[in-house]
Amino acid sequence: MPRFPENFLWGGATSAAQIEGGRCLDGKGLCHLDYVYYRGAKIPCNFMLKKDYEKAKAEEATLNFPNRRGIDFFHRYKEDIALLAEMGFKSFRMSISWTRLFPTGLEETPDPEGVKFYHNVFRELHRYGIEPLVTMIHYELPIVFVEKYDGWTSEEVIPHCYRYLKFLIDEYKDEVKYWLTFNEINMVTAVPWLGGGIILDRHGEFEMPKDFRPFGPLPPEMAERWENASHQALHHQFIVSAMIVKYAHETAPQCLIGNMFNLHHLYPETPSPSDALRAHQETEFNMFFCDVMAKGYYPKWILSYYRKNNIHIKWYDNYEKILEQGKVDFISLSYYLSSIVTADPKRQERIGSFIRTLHNPHIETSDFGWQIDPTALRISLNELRDRFDLPIYIVENGIGAFEELNEDKTVHDNYRIAYLRSHIEAIAEAIEDGVDVIGYTPWGCIDLVSCSLVSMSKRYGFVYVDADDFGNGTYDRYRKDSFYWYKKVIASNGEDLSD
Ligand code: BG6
Repeated sequence: MPRFPENFLWGGATSAAQIEGGRCLDGKGLCHLDYVYYRGAKIPCNFMLKKDYEKAKAEEATLNFPNRRGIDFFHRYKEDIALLAEMGFKSFRMSISWTRLFPTGLEETPDPEGVKFYHNVFRELHRYGIEPLVTMIHYELPIVFVEKYDGWTSEEVIPHCYRYLKFLIDEYKDEVKYWLTFNEINMVTAVPWLGGGIILDRHGEFEMPKDFRPFGPLPPEMAERWENASHQALHHQFIVSAMIVKYAHETAPQCLIGNMFNLHHLYPETPSPSDALRAHQETEFNMFFCDVMAKGYYPKWILSYYRKNNIHIKWYDNYEKILEQGKVDFISLSYYLSSIVTADPKRQERIGSFIRTLHNPHIETSDFGWQIDPTALRISLNELRDRFDLPIYIVENGIGAFEELNEDKTVHDNYRIAYLRSHIEAIAEAIEDGVDVIGYTPWGCIDLVSCSLVSMSKRYGFVYVDADDFGNGTYDRYRKDSFYWYKKVIASNGEDLSD
């Protein structure tokens, strides 16, 4: 019996800011990610302090902004889509750049050149029978809203965003069936700049402590601003997301809209009740984002968490009704790693960009310290089935690595094949467990700019892009070994995972 359903959506995933380039071309405006500058191939830059932001603006002419270049998908989309088609893709996850359509975010009508660009991309995908899966907002906020409104903390962003989202549904509803509202919506509370365009020290001076790690107790001087601002921003994102889900259900019933959150499975360090409690609390915290979007209400425990921690949300008018009427059609997630939690969070180390964990001796780690754990994916998929009973689309997964093109233009990425094979096995097992997984789109199917490092050095692709962190290179595309392997996986609908 086949392990994957007949119409399983095999594909790959990207985002506009990380691939398109062509910033400021054809009238395109800049978003907040265009202000994150390169600081070194291994230096995370997801946080933005006032001094960094001022520097980005003052030294705009000389600093290195890799997101502004992307991988030049803007000009090469036909060649790229032909490569995806060659692998047999059924689905391609991409995002639309808000500022390609509405350059400052404030315009009443979109830029016709931007509108045309996405029609062209969708037409090209459909030519090969590839279903687009579109993220409406993948970490992009028009820079004007950072300046004018302090990012998503302000309710003022909602009408502008709703105008943009409504336009997407009205304009592209016959070309795009699968939509996601916000990429990794839970990141706004972990990394407020990335998810919400929030500059944390904007209204009061403080230094980011050197050993600072998010996802844990914050230094008191940061906690008040951080949690109030990020949960307020999250509330506004929940509202506009529910509003557009309702609108799409009413006007475009052929479309299906999902949430999107970053799943990282958590184990307690020991069987001690306090470790178990901590792991349970952090898991609930992660699930809360899905609860609001899929069940349509804030769980009681988070309201009590807000009260206990002096987090004061200014609730949007009629918010309960808006959330109840805008429940998503499916759950989508990114999954890369698992973590270990202890009752004493100070002992947890930072690995990779911003995840905090203890080292798990039972599993391996990637070049970037991310703990590789396909079994945790299977466990989490089962938990999501029990909690939501909705279809699940795995829209990001993969392994980032340092890679170079060999002289004969090959890349032997056997570690990527091993990583993906083990995760596809885990998904097949979850399907056998009764989980309704509808698709799988590994991250960065073509090498792209890393989100946390803002560099080309961390690569995820089946296709190698000849570009370095500084924009040097031909930008030509080359098939890695994993390209041929994934092609075989798709052709056999996940049955043939052999080398
Ligand atoms: C997800 C994001 O968090 O992880 C992507 O949705 C990102 O935008 C991906 O690129 C991998 O992270 P990184 O930092 O390795 O690029």
